[in-house]
Amino acid sequence: MPGANVVVASNRGPVSFSTQDEQLVLRRGGGGLVSALVRAAGQPAPQESDGAEGGGSLWVCCAMSEADRRAAREATHGRLDLAGHDMGGGRVRMLSIDPRVFDRAYNAIANRVLWFVAHMLFDTSVAPRFDAGFRKQWDSYERYCRAFALAIAEDAAEGAVVLVQDYHLTLAPGLLRLRRPDLRIGFFCHTPWAPPEYFRMLPGTVARDILAGILGADRAGFLSPRWAAAFADCCAEVLNADVRGGVVRYEGRDTVLGVHPLGVDGDELRRRAARNDVVSRAATLRDQLGGRQAIVRVDRMELSKNIVRGLEAYRELLRTRPEWRNRVTHIALANPSRSGVPEYREYTGSVLRMGEQIRNEFSTASWEPLVLDVSDDYARSLAAYTVADVLLVNPIRDGMNLVAKEGPILSRDGLALILSREAGAADELASDSLIVNPYDVSQTADSLDEALRMPREQRQERTRRLVTAATALPPQAWLRDQVEALQALSSR
Ligand code: G6P
Repeated sequence: MPGANVVVASNRGPVSFSTQDEQLVLRRGGGGLVSALVRAAGQPAPQESDGAEGGGSLWVCCAMSEADRRAAREATHGRLDLAGHDMGGGRVRMLSIDPRVFDRAYNAIANRVLWFVAHMLFDTSVAPRFDAGFRKQWDSYERYCRAFALAIAEDAAEGAVVLVQDYHLTLAPGLLRLRRPDLRIGFFCHTPWAPPEYFRMLPGTVARDILAGILGADRAGFLSPRWAAAFADCCAEVLNADVRGGVVRYEGRDTVLGVHPLGVDGDELRRRAARNDVVSRAATLRDQLGGRQAIVRVDRMELSKNIVRGLEAYRELLRTRPEWRNRVTHIALANPSRSGVPEYREYTGSVLRMGEQIRNEFSTASWEPLVLDVSDDYARSLAAYTVADVLLVNPIRDGMNLVAKEGPILSRDGLALILSREAGAADELASDSLIVNPYDVSQTADSLDEALRMPREQRQERTRRLVTAATALPPQAWLRDQVEALQALSSR
């Protein structure tokens, strides 16, 4: 196989497998990054003009289920045969990693430590605790990152551009550079980054390895200048690195920091929302609303999304402004996420209990105050955007939050957006949103009241501007900018 000119590496890949009657069935994942890479694969390869050998794009990802592992094992070196699956010529290599190593790397380290640090979500009176068990998990995380580095080193063409994604793979850029100094390596962080006072709770060697691992890249990209600045502060404090003008110098090498605020492909989203499954769900929701205003929220069921305080704010609205009773319905949709992590299961329980309390307190024979659904129904989420009068996005901390961008695009009559100041999206959307402190339930209740009262023309005007901001950097351009920025750096 000729080496690839653009390699994307991420834990979750663009395809996944299930088994039906013992046969493997392939499913192409949704999401902006998948479409962006599929399109990028159809474009001329960056090195072609240099006359270098190689071609096309390759996505290196991890087998996440038993069916994925079987598919990876049955393919030669995990290189999947995607003929007939509309991947625009892009190739996928799926790594079959020992399930115990994967479990420790993905669940124990990436999801229960690194994600919690990034979102500053530990209840620090009891967690985290870095003991002998943690050391073993950390070894697995290193092995997992090394497996990626080896696979990329094998499959990347001379001078190729490599884009390593997210907190699952922080050590991969450094490990890859040792093997392939010719590559132009980018790392992208899809979460927030924690300030040094929080980040340094990690054991010293681990904190240093993470930062030095990322600094193995030529560029490190973030969704917001706030997260890039926090990363730079950690490099200065923990590594004693020299940080100047958006460049981190460490052990004689430079890593350029970049900010790429990912947006939405509006046309693609509108096309998806025009399909029958969305249209019919929107009709059902409109029936349920019966002419009342809709406060909508759509999230993954994640601890950072602040769903419980959002429900408390709605309860406070109904308690303190009884005039809204029977005139509004809250549609709260949460897609299940990481049910293997105990904190997530407990959180789901708290959300459901709060929903129950609201129903018990306010439901009447003719009015259901809350539609709370915790099942995975993408079409229903899109349908909810179309009927929203108010969109509530109040995360405790969020890298970007694409719900705040998708909602306005699909809104039919214009909506009022309530947005947490702690979401990366607030950088671009603040001037046309009602900004809230996510911990302040009363302020959120006040904002719900204000949003419900906002005149239609004002909602429509704001929504128009929100759409412009939300579509400013769709995934294709987001990816292209990073590839071009890496190519522009002279090889070091
Ligand atoms: C969260 C994070 C993202 C990450 C994603 C992975 O939403 O904020 O940065 O990419 O989880 O989800 P997964 O289901 O693949 O673990």
